[in-house]
Amino acid sequence: MVNIFNDDYKNVIKEINNVDLIITDPPYLHEKGGRGKMLLGESLDRNEFNMKELGDFGKDEIYEFLNLTKPLMKKPQWYIFCSEKQLAYYLNWCVENKFKYNLLTWNKPLSVMNRERYSTNIEYIVRIYSSGCALNKLDLNLYSEKSKYYSKYKTYNQIRGKEKLHPSQKPIAMISEIIELSSNLNQVIFDPFMGSGSIGISAIENNRKFIGIELDENYYNVAKNRLGNITIVT
Ligand SMILES: C[S@@+](CC[C@H](N)C(=O)[O-])C[C@H]1O[C@@H](n2cnc3c(N)ncnc32)[C@H](O)[C@@H]1O
Repeated sequence: MVNIFNDDYKNVIKEINNVDLIITDPPYLHEKGGRGKMLLGESLDRNEFNMKELGDFGKDEIYEFLNLTKPLMKKPQWYIFCSEKQLAYYLNWCVENKFKYNLLTWNKPLSVMNRERYSTNIEYIVRIYSSGCALNKLDLNLYSEKSKYYSKYKTYNQIRGKEKLHPSQKPIAMISEIIELSSNLNQVIFDPFMGSGSIGISAIENNRKFIGIELDENYYNVAKNRLGNITIVT
C-alpha cells in the first residue's frame, strides 16, 4: 500500500491513524545572514534549489509536529533528520515529555570548509521513542554486513549529479537500515515531509506500507514518479 498526498501535513493527519513508525526529514532552520567565508568547496549543490522556499522549522514547528503526530502511533517512535541548530529543540521536547532518545549521525565526505565553524559533513538523526520500542534482532554475527545497522554512525555519500532530484535527498540504503531495525513486514511507515520520496522507496523495497505527504507540487510529482517506478524483488 502506498498512499501519498500533495498537501500541508497538518491538513492530512486528521485522516491518518494506525501508523507504526515515523521516519521523516522536515525542513531545516535556515541561517540568518551569510554562511561565513568559504575556504573550500561548493555550497552542497544547493544554489540550484531555493532552500528558503522549502520552509523553516524552528522550536514552535518542532513542538507542534511532535505533539500532532504522537497520537497517530500506539507506541510512538520517530526517526527525524535534523541540523545541529534544531537538535536542542528535539531533545528539550523529549526531556519535557519524558521520551527517550538516541542520536545517530549521517557522516558525509568533507565537502565544505568555512572559517567560522566546522565543516557541515554531519547530519543528525534523532530517534525519539517510548518504552517498549525495541530494535529488531537481525540474524547476524559480528562480521556480517548487517551488524553495522546497530551503529550510530552512518557513512553514506550524498546524492549528486543526475540522481539528485531534491536538495536534501537522503540515501535509500541508509533509511533501509532504520526500517529493518525498527519496524516489521507490512507495518505502516509515515513520512509527512517526503520531498522526492526516498523514505517511501525504502519502505516499499522492504515490504512495508507507506503514507507520505509533500506540500510542494513539483516535489510531490517527483515522489509520485519515483514511487511508481519501483520494482519489488522478493
Ligand atoms: C528536507 S525535505 C525532504 C527531502 C526528502 N527526505 C528526500 O529524500 O527527498 C522537506 C520537504 O518538506 C516539504 N514541506 C515543508 N513544509 C511542509 C508541510 N507543512 N507539509 C508537507 N510538506 C512540507 C518541503 O517542500 C520539502 O520538500
